Amino acid sequence: MALLPILHYPDPRLHKVAKPVEVIDDRIRELVRNMAETMYEAPGVGLAATQVDVHERVVVIDISEDSDQLLVLINPEITWKSEEQQVYEEGCLSVPGIYDEVRRSSRIHVKAHNEKDEAFEFDAEGLLAVCVQHELDHLLGKVFVEYLSPLKQSRIRAKIRKQEREAERV
Ligand code: NI
Repeated sequence: MALLPILHYPDPRLHKVAKPVEVIDDRIRELVRNMAETMYEAPGVGLAATQVDVHERVVVIDISEDSDQLLVLINPEITWKSEEQQVYEEGCLSVPGIYDEVRRSSRIHVKAHNEKDEAFEFDAEGLLAVCVQHELDHLLGKVFVEYLSPLKQSRIRAKIRKQEREAERV
């Protein structure tokens, strides 16, 4: 297993659109293991392949308290979204130190495959619904800060540039 470097906003590679996984094979299973390790190490509750510069439709999520309920989504699709929405304060491993409110559907239905190539589907609400929508946005090249005002987005870019300059000096 290996930790993978995570791209940071505003890296243009975060805006690439991921392609469907064609074959769920050992290469994909290794990617899933490495993504899970990277997410747990960070620590975070979700990671999309886009964030580690792999542009295929693979997501890992674990919102459990003990980090022992890994959810692997390969070729995930949201097949239904509720009109009812909820506002959650979101963060992202690609936008370190930034948290802000995003409005999304409060309930969704999801279809995906797991790393054993088994099809499954589920309903999600609350934090899981937020997480799935946030991660699937990454696969479409969208980062959560793009829901915020242009002013907030430019402040966030400035803050991240400053953080990265400071990190380079250490
Ligand atoms: Ni994210």
